[in-house]
Order: sequence, then C-alpha cells, then structure tokens
Amino acid sequence: MKIPLSDRLMACCNFISPGDRVADIGCDHGYLSIYLLTQGIASSVIASDINEGPLQSAKVNAQRYGVREKIAFYLSDGVQNIPRDFDTLVCAGMGADTMISILEAAPWLQNNQYRLILQCQSKRPMLRRYLSDHGWHITRETLVKEGKFFYPVMEVIYEPGHLLTDAQCYIAPALLADGSPLLPEFIQWVTDALQTAVTGLARNGGKKYEELQKILQELKSLNI
Ligand SMILES: C[S@@+](CC[C@H](N)C(=O)[O-])C[C@H]1O[C@@H](n2cnc3c(N)ncnc32)[C@H](O)[C@@H]1O
Repeated sequence: MKIPLSDRLMACCNFISPGDRVADIGCDHGYLSIYLLTQGIASSVIASDINEGPLQSAKVNAQRYGVREKIAFYLSDGVQNIPRDFDTLVCAGMGADTMISILEAAPWLQNNQYRLILQCQSKRPMLRRYLSDHGWHITRETLVKEGKFFYPVMEVIYEPGHLLTDAQCYIAPALLADGSPLLPEFIQWVTDALQTAVTGLARNGGKKYEELQKILQELKSLNI
C-alpha cells in the first residue's frame, strides 16, 4: 500500500539521514513518520500534534501501515511534552508564527546535537530573519513546487554567527547554493511579489517602501 506522501513531505524526508531519531512535530496524518519507518530511514520516530483529532488519525494510519507500535505519539504544543532524545526535528506545513513560538518555548533546542528540518507555509522571510537573529544557521535549502505553489524546505542547525541580510531572508544563500532548477522561477515569483508591494507603497514612500525597494534591487542583481 503506497503511502500518500506529497512532494513537499518527500523533500523533508530527503533531508533525514539514515538512522536518525526523528521528532515529527505537527504530524497530522502521520505520513512523514510512517514513511520514515516503513522505508527503514529513521531509527525511531516521535510523532506529536497539538490537537487530539490529527494525533488520532496518525495513530489509525500508523496501524494501517503496520508501524503503530514503532511510533511514540504525544499530544503536545510544539516540543513541550515530548522526550528530548531525538536528533532531527521536522516541522512541516506550519506558518512562521507557529514555528517561531515553538522554538521560543524550547531554548534547549539551541544545541548542536539537534538539527531542524523546516517547511514553512507563510511569512518565510520573517522566519529566516528570526533564525538568523537567534543563532540558527540555514545549512541547506531546497525547493519543491506543487501546482502553482513553491515550498522551500530548509535544514537548520544552531551555529551562531551566520547573519543574513534582509534580501537573504527572501532568497537564502543555502538556496542559491542548492542549484535547484526551480530557482530562476522562484526568484521571479519572489521579486514579482515584492515589486507589487513596492508599487503599492510608492505613492506615500516611507521606511517600509525604502526597505523593500532595497531588497528588491539586491534580489534583481542576483545573476541566476
Ligand atoms: C497543516 S498541518 C501539516 C501536517 C503535516 N506536518 C504536513 O506538513 O503535511 C499542521 C499540523 O500542525 C498542528 N499544529 C499546529 N500548531 C501546532 C503546535 N504548536 N504544536 C504541535 N502541532 C501543531 C496542527 O494540529 C496540524 O495537525
């Protein structure tokens, strides 16, 4: 029985190293956890969700795929109620506000024994700014496209000293280094959105206008 894993979640799985002990935060249906175990990629999996409904559906799905007993399930807001003995935390399909509040509530994650795989749905520049300002380093980032939507997936470790510029919070150096064939199209999409915002602010000018204008110029100068 094939696991209905989206390309977005497959990209997250591709960042997992063989033998990793994984914590799947906001597991919902549980397919990422199930895939990592049935494929023999993860050595253990914690699957958690803040809501009982999704957690139950993850349990039902895990049963269907024969890995119910291999997954440790927790009802938890972020990492608050889960054990700390994992290597890689995956947070997929959430917005930047939620991811930031999860990281804020767990300073113990700021330790180079942990690796984060983040697939953020909204306000990604804000998330990258937060990560950069709080000592997190985006070591790898790749792109997935499903329908007309782009999904950057990043690998992050705690390693202070890698400050991003404002433009790099839109297109991170790690994403440029990844060399994804989707990159030119993604940069165009990002700059188009910024151009629309800048045009909207142009009449009144102001700090935000200056700021976005500068970011736009920097992104337009990227030679991809
Ligand atoms: C849109 S689903 C994404 C599910 C799956 N990770 C994916 O990417 O397909 C978001 C899930 O995160 C859960 N969630 C939201 N806030 C959370 C938090 N603070 N801690 C844990 N889970 C959370 C929701 O209940 C929901 O099941």
